Amino acid sequence: MKNKLFLFMLVLVIGILAACGTAEKETSTGSAPDEGSDSTSEEAKVLRVGTSADYAPFEFVDTKVSEEIIGFDIELATMIADRLGYKLQFTNSDFNSLIPGLQADKFDFVISGMTPTEERDQVVDFSNPYYETEQYMVSLKESNIKSMEDLKGKVVGAQVSSIQEDLAKEFAAENGFTVESRDLIPQLIQEMKNGRLDGAVIENIVSENYLSQNDDLAAFPIEVEDPDYKAVVFQEGSTLKAEFDGVIQELIDEGKIEELKKKWFVVE
Ligand code: ARG
Repeated sequence: MKNKLFLFMLVLVIGILAACGTAEKETSTGSAPDEGSDSTSEEAKVLRVGTSADYAPFEFVDTKVSEEIIGFDIELATMIADRLGYKLQFTNSDFNSLIPGLQADKFDFVISGMTPTEERDQVVDFSNPYYETEQYMVSLKESNIKSMEDLKGKVVGAQVSSIQEDLAKEFAAENGFTVESRDLIPQLIQEMKNGRLDGAVIENIVSENYLSQNDDLAAFPIEVEDPDYKAVVFQEGSTLKAEFDGVIQELIDEGKIEELKKKWFVVE
């Protein structure tokens, strides 16, 4: 009897330890390479992919359905990998740890709605862009914030290490608000709801996703000089860039990117 109890406790403890796990979660997706390719007998090479899955509809986990990371970027990466005969193993990691992860050879590539910038380009390589993006200022409807001027004396949030953080800082001085950053996008929304933030700079498609699910939120577009894009990110000098660029162009030409937009975005 004692033994049984001990065994039961042991199994319980192991179970709990396993459930706690680590902060980074790994999930594999991607199918085997196309039949007819010469690698049918060989195992497809697995590429390690970093992504910050806090960014619906681009990369997120729908906990009601499963633990799997899904979204526009994930499906795009999987399509590219399928055509090139790779399998993918995704790791969920905070946005500001993705470039360091590439530099430390933890990932073969990153897909995370990331925008090429000069600063980033010094330490990583970017694919050709697969998508253009715009920026919104999101706030609570009840606060009646309709323009930058309405933010005077207020606190605006953005994701750590994002271009939205840079943008918020750029507008802060001339409009008299302060900037406070958070690691994850859902934290920005939460902090607005509990009154710690008055606004947050978030890109349009991600904002629209929140607006469609939260009646208490409002947003207005921010005028920026140059358009922002999204691209896949590689270790500097990676040969994957040329391979990916070829397939990205194919997918654009075939209208596949448009199909992905229709499938994942709440707005066009
Ligand atoms: N496009 C922005 C940037 O590159 C934000 C991307 C945030 N992505 C994410 N998965 N949280 O800085």
